Amino acid sequence: MDVIEAKALSKRYDGLTAVNNIDFSISEGECFGFLGPNGAGKTTVMGIIYCFMPPSSGDVSVFGMNVREHPAEIKSRLGVMPQENNLDPDLSVIENLIVYARYFDISKKEASSRAWELLDFTELREKSGVNIKDLSGGMKRRLLLARALINSPELLILDEPTTGLDPHSRHAVWDQLNLLKSKGMTLMLTTHYMEEAEKLCDRVAIMDSGKIVTIDTPAHLTSLYSGNLESVYLTLTGKSLEG
Ligand SMILES: Nc1ncnc2c1ncn2[C@@H]1O[C@H](COP(=O)(O)OP(=O)(O)OP(=O)(O)O)[C@@H](O)[C@H]1O
Ligand SMILES: [Mg+2]
Repeated sequence: MDVIEAKALSKRYDGLTAVNNIDFSISEGECFGFLGPNGAGKTTVMGIIYCFMPPSSGDVSVFGMNVREHPAEIKSRLGVMPQENNLDPDLSVIENLIVYARYFDISKKEASSRAWELLDFTELREKSGVNIKDLSGGMKRRLLLARALINSPELLILDEPTTGLDPHSRHAVWDQLNLLKSKGMTLMLTTHYMEEAEKLCDRVAIMDSGKIVTIDTPAHLTSLYSGNLESVYLTLTGKSLEG
């Protein structure tokens, strides 16, 4: 079954077409990555999938439901790790998780037990009482991942999950995401890191200027272009992935 199906999806902002008539689908249990330079349209696609904003045209369904008609039901079944930090600066680490759980009608007791479990999962237990402003950048990323998991989502949307992380934390997040995948969770992520796409993704869509240039497995792409994904990207778009 397809968890996400997008047909002729476009998003326009005033004079700018950020996403230009793209088609893709993501099946249950798959890890699907979007690669592309700054401004390619990756975050915009994600915003439409998690019902933050509607498409300008085209049809998008998530869990078989149209994003225009069933945003509340869709949101209750997915988790989002945004590109930008939007943690509540007035709350501690653990409070950020417990308060967020209220959006999903999770009982206080259940929220607390899940929050502690997720702090262990993301190696943040010892920071539970700390204010957000006193966390490092990498710790904030990890807390955003924990928060995205508070409602036990079936689909996890990750916008540049490891940007700003040191190598140890990056590998830890890859292990965590692979563990979630092995339990059947569907993952959709964006990344600028070739190694991340190769380690995590079953398929990748390479985006450039709002269009999908190609969709394939990392292994097939690298064999076709006899190089790594970075050189695939350069060959297909003439641009460096780093923007
Ligand atoms: N709210 C908005 N209003 C107007 N233009 C926007 C808005 N959000 C994004 N854009 C524009 O849409 C295009 C795609 O932006 P988007 O954030 O989706 O790119 P991206 O691929 O996620 O880039 P990055 O790798 O830098 O995160 C850019 O040209 C951007 O300036
Ligand atoms: Mg982005």
